[in-house]
Amino acid sequence: MLIHIADEATERGVPHSPVTGKRPLVFERFSDNSAYAFNTEHPSGVFYLQPGAADRLAAALRKYGNPPSRSVLAEVVGSSDEAGFWARLLEPEDHPVVRPRGPLNVWFHISNSCNLACSYCYIPGLRKAVSAPIPGSTTEPDDVSEVIKSLHSICVARGFGGLHLRFAGGEPLLALDAIEQACRISARLFAESGLSITFAVLTNGTLLPARFFSLLRRYRFTGISISLDGAEPLHNEYRFEGRQRSGTWKTILANIKTLKDNGHSPYILTTLTARNYASIDEFVDTCVEHRLGFRLSPVRDRNTPRIPGLQDSIVEKLRPIYRRLPALLPITRPIQNYANFAEWSPGVKKSTACGTCRSSLAIGQHGGVATCQMRLDRNYGSIAREPAVPIFDGMISDPANWRFLAPNNMSGGCTQCKWRYSCSGGCPEHTMGVYRTYDRPSPWCKLYGDFLPIYYQAIATQIKLAADRLA
Ligand SMILES: C[S@@+](CC[C@H](N)C(=O)[O-])C[C@H]1O[C@@H](n2cnc3c(N)ncnc32)[C@H](O)[C@@H]1O
Ligand code: SF4
Ligand code: SF4
Repeated sequence: MLIHIADEATERGVPHSPVTGKRPLVFERFSDNSAYAFNTEHPSGVFYLQPGAADRLAAALRKYGNPPSRSVLAEVVGSSDEAGFWARLLEPEDHPVVRPRGPLNVWFHISNSCNLACSYCYIPGLRKAVSAPIPGSTTEPDDVSEVIKSLHSICVARGFGGLHLRFAGGEPLLALDAIEQACRISARLFAESGLSITFAVLTNGTLLPARFFSLLRRYRFTGISISLDGAEPLHNEYRFEGRQRSGTWKTILANIKTLKDNGHSPYILTTLTARNYASIDEFVDTCVEHRLGFRLSPVRDRNTPRIPGLQDSIVEKLRPIYRRLPALLPITRPIQNYANFAEWSPGVKKSTACGTCRSSLAIGQHGGVATCQMRLDRNYGSIAREPAVPIFDGMISDPANWRFLAPNNMSGGCTQCKWRYSCSGGCPEHTMGVYRTYDRPSPWCKLYGDFLPIYYQAIATQIKLAADRLA
């Protein structure tokens, strides 16, 4: 049982301390007097506190107020070897640490064809429900080669440490030749110039030919994401093949088993809709039983978030699931990875939900550069046909993308929100699609704001259970 001792001022919408201008620390006691804390101003992870440490923090918060000031550190530090813990919890590094720039993350929409026809799919102009790729809808060999060379030149010119290439679509496994060619060329090119190169694939999991397994091995794919949309009957309502609308659940589960038998760890992506959320408890049990990590993402469309009462109903469905999960998942399978939600990562202070224009972009099947896969219809030029660096620079200097590059210039409701640096407003393209502006809270704001504390509490409970077992 938890005892909530944070005060009213910590609720969403009243975030700032009149004294420090900062967001408060979330601080909650478990019934045995241990506690957990989360720094909403500087998200740096969920911290579990043994009873003595919890008492010291509670006393300091009473004395100095919440959010705590720097002097709190001196008050709560019990011994010098604890100093690092408190420093990370209370005042983590606020300045960007100077480290070598990470990789450029690229969604490579290598196939604009798909054998399925999910009704909610956000890919613009996708050729759905095809049994073989429509001619011209997968990336041609000459274009593959130019795209990879261009991505390499962007990485070199703009100082990225390497490339993380995610093959997607459409269904990328309809373009296996193009994937193989892209892996072969980029593995050589990036290795020669000392830059990192990693590969991942997002697939619907219905087509896993033997050749795909050898590609996974040869190029050491770091991620294999497979989409499942809830428990079997609801998944099959969205993800079916052919005129008979044959459900794909059984095929996908068999393919997942084969992947696991071959030493791979597929990760499950689930889009939450007004229909399938009702079966999500059953689905989560299946993932836990099969030791599959998953991420739940609310559908990005215009109408679903507006359905009266739906966001509350989803929270009420998720609440008992995330109460159960800490006891079902060992600490070696952290909730934030194995039962993830949206784009949340509690250890990172986020000003925008994704890295678009800073560290990520999407490439269309003909090499068109876009901010993300939802906006492949608005591209800045083809890096298969034109010089790549000016196209990249054109995208990041487009005033339409200021939201991604200068989030501190925003003025809408998210700036006042306690969860600004955790939720960071949700998917900006979704917000734009619904409200015609980036500078508003997400259409899923109610769900995000109400579910975030439940999610953090689940993470804390998982840590507590592990600590209790060790004690
Ligand atoms: C576009 S698909 C491409 C890869 C592959 N065809 C698949 O289904 O996994 C990638 C992911 O985007 C998700 N997705 C598609 N449309 C969406 C939407 N409107 N809102 C949220 N997620 C969506 C899918 O469910 C899937 O997990
Ligand atoms: S399988 Fe993937 S690409 Fe195909 S329609 Fe469904 S979500 Fe879209
Ligand atoms: S969208 Fe997220 S950050 Fe914005 S107001 Fe809602 S909960 Fe807060």
